[in-house]
Amino acid sequence: MAGNLTFTMIKPTAVKNNHTGDILKMINDAGFKIIAMKYTRLAPERAELFYAVHKGKPFFERLVSFMCSGPIVAAILEKENAVEDFRKLIGSTNPEKAEEGTVRKRYATSMTENAVHGSDSDENANIEADFFFSKLERY
Ligand code: CMP
Repeated sequence: MAGNLTFTMIKPTAVKNNHTGDILKMINDAGFKIIAMKYTRLAPERAELFYAVHKGKPFFERLVSFMCSGPIVAAILEKENAVEDFRKLIGSTNPEKAEEGTVRKRYATSMTENAVHGSDSDENANIEADFFFSKLERY
């Protein structure tokens, strides 16, 4: 059965360009409930750990350095079929391939600076949520 949680980060360029409010509105309008949220900045060791699955790939260093370049907004979202529905809302990782009306089509500027992160499985949603939030920080 599909899980009801996913994890997202609004990435540094989208935050810097003042798109946080618009992206949160798209998230709420699509029926997701925010059950945890924080405005924070990743240290390089934490970003390397979060993206450890991509270590060794050509874009890894660029991704880590970008993710530490400014504040981000991290959040846990709740909705039935959360992972799949959220990935539909944000669109393809490559913004050039993202469909009209998706978050990345609107706000991504490149594959690395692609506006938002979204978990790719229920298992990773839980791992990523636990990476940023304790149980006491969820409402
Ligand atoms: P995200 O959803 O945060 O998960 C992993 C990130 O790696 C992804 O978004 C992109 O920002 C980045 N990424 C994945 N594939 C590539 C690629 N081929 N080139 C550059 N960045 C990539």
